[in-house]
Amino acid sequence: MHRSLKENTSSFSLTTFSVMKTFIFLAVLALCASAVLANTCGGNCPSNDCTNCLCGTSSSYVSISEWCAKFSGWDQSQCQCIVHHESSGNAHAQNHNTNGSNDIGVWQINSVNWGSCSKGRPPCDASSNLACAIQVWKWGGKSFRLWSTCSECGAC
Ligand SMILES: *[C@@H]1O[C@H](CO)[C@@H](O)[C@H](O)[C@H]1NC(C)=O
Repeated sequence: MHRSLKENTSSFSLTTFSVMKTFIFLAVLALCASAVLANTCGGNCPSNDCTNCLCGTSSSYVSISEWCAKFSGWDQSQCQCIVHHESSGNAHAQNHNTNGSNDIGVWQINSVNWGSCSKGRPPCDASSNLACAIQVWKWGGKSFRLWSTCSECGAC
């Protein structure tokens, strides 16, 4: 009688231990999963919600004034303000939107535009990003109207 009680107690603590091990294992697994699901992409995705790093995990800063000046059609100070707010000039900047789309690069070009301005690929280099930005600027009636940072830059 006494012996069987001791066996029960011992098997109970063993079970508790297994449950704890399973719990710790699942907690570690959840931590790893969240690290995969939410990503800063080495700082390229400051919102920490990118699901994959479309421009890699190293930054690539370009001169904002130099790249805005490659197109004379737009107002240079408006362009510089937009870029400063959108990416600070990081050609590898990425933002993941709640609707699942991604904004990429110097001018933070939304994935909805990639098909028509960068052969369907994320425009991670400043040249293709510029081509996209010019196109979106034209679609906005030759203005930065289509950028969410337009009003804070006094550009619309
Ligand atoms: C998703 O959200 C972004 C950012 O607000 C916007 O630019 C884009 O047009 C949206 N895409 C769709 C398909 O609604």
